Amino acid sequence: MHEGLSPYVVEAEHFAVGYGERTILHDVTARIARGSVTCICGGSGCGKSTFLRSTIGLVPHKGGSVRVLGEDVNALEGEARAAFLSRVGFMYQNGGLINSLSVLENLKIPLMAHTGLPDDVIEELVYHKLAQVQLSHAVHLLPGELSGGMLKRAGFARALILEPELVLSDEPSAGLDPVTAADLDALMVRLKEELGMTLIVVTHDLDSIRRIADRIVMLDKGSVKFDGTLSEALSSELPLVKNFFARASQEGHPGVESLWQRLNHE
Ligand SMILES: Nc1ncnc2c1ncn2[C@@H]1O[C@H](COP(=O)(O)OP(=O)(O)OP(=O)(O)O)[C@@H](O)[C@H]1O
Ligand SMILES: [Mg+2]
Repeated sequence: MHEGLSPYVVEAEHFAVGYGERTILHDVTARIARGSVTCICGGSGCGKSTFLRSTIGLVPHKGGSVRVLGEDVNALEGEARAAFLSRVGFMYQNGGLINSLSVLENLKIPLMAHTGLPDDVIEELVYHKLAQVQLSHAVHLLPGELSGGMLKRAGFARALILEPELVLSDEPSAGLDPVTAADLDALMVRLKEELGMTLIVVTHDLDSIRRIADRIVMLDKGSVKFDGTLSEALSSELPLVKNFFARASQEGHPGVESLWQRLNHE
């Protein structure tokens, strides 16, 4: 870690973004601590993906400020922006791989762009990263030849290939079977605990939230309506928060009561 680094990886102050004339997030104030896992939750279309994209300056900025890894993301240009992006791994919902290239070739791209390493070392790094997500057997396959779960893991490996300080992940467990989802969660927790990475994960999967979340940030109508730990969320009287857990439990996830029991046993 650099000297004098802020304990916060994301510092958003009355931050607003949108597309064209439309403002999607109009007042987001949030701080995300280094070395933590934060789950971003909220109803469909409330702007969770927009929030994630805006932390790397991909959504037109309309007001307030957001500093990520100490940088004003909306002021970064050219090489400074490329250097910033090499410190952040983004895992897209569908993996985000180039369809005409093998998994190996896809993962080599960031290393070729950002390091001066020789090809054999780059390949070794890719093999190592794929082993971490149990994809060693898929090195030479094309994205179209992977299952949904394999695609997610390949996308995750790609996001991690430069050992970023911050990993942004949009619904990593959506569509995965419970075992694969649990493995991915365990990997995220290991990345935090062993490498000190910070992870921001958009999810509405209650099992996942229980396994990985240090904090929950809930968005609604363009701003942060809740920011706290899981146990604070579970005891919140806010209708938005209560409804979120009630709905999630109707979708087949454990109800709030059994979640409490499990939390108290751990
Ligand atoms: N590239 C874009 N251009 C214009 N509008 C967009 C764009 N991306 C998202 N939006 C709009 O912004 C709003 C928030 O979308 P966003 O994808 O951030 O929501 P979300 O919370 O991630 O939803 P979901 O849970 O369905 O993934 C939606 O009304 C959407 O139509
Ligand atoms: Mg989304």
